[in-house]
Amino acid sequence: QKPLTIYERIGGEHAITRIVEAFYPRVQKNPLLAPLFPEDIQPVMEKQKRFLTQFFGGPPLYSQQHGHPRLRARHLPFPITPSRAEAWLHCMKEALDDAEIQGEVRQEIWSRLCFTASHMVNTPEENQ
Ligand code: HEM
Repeated sequence: QKPLTIYERIGGEHAITRIVEAFYPRVQKNPLLAPLFPEDIQPVMEKQKRFLTQFFGGPPLYSQQHGHPRLRARHLPFPITPSRAEAWLHCMKEALDDAEIQGEVRQEIWSRLCFTASHMVNTPEENQ
């Protein structure tokens, strides 16, 4: 028997939607993050739902529509400082709380997101 994926353990599409819908309103209120994002956040939310679905072991929705994620390359146009990565993770922590993601699967999600967020840093603090 295959072990369940993170996607299956959190409850699939419904959980992804809850996380993403809790996350972006927080991003848009965060003074370090808001200036990087477009006013119309809906398309970004749709991409993030597809990405997190596959990142957590669900169907490869992001790659089917957008090709290889190349996340670091796709973030290069935006000056991502260590403090912006921290702010992103802070918004995500609150979103995971809102979506009631708890227990062992939460720890797994958290360590993967921390790793990926630090990988996105492309600008030293003083150059922001
Ligand atoms: C896109 C910021 C970390 C996943 C974006 C965009 C910005 C951004 C400004 C572009 C929005 C637009 O379309 O105009 C940041 C910042 C981060 C961060 C400041 C702090 C570290 C992450 C992490 C992930 C992620 C950790 C995944 C776990 C994505 C995805 C997109 C995206 C999937 C859409 C890419 C596409 O255009 O297809 N992000 N991001 N980001 N981000 Fe991040």
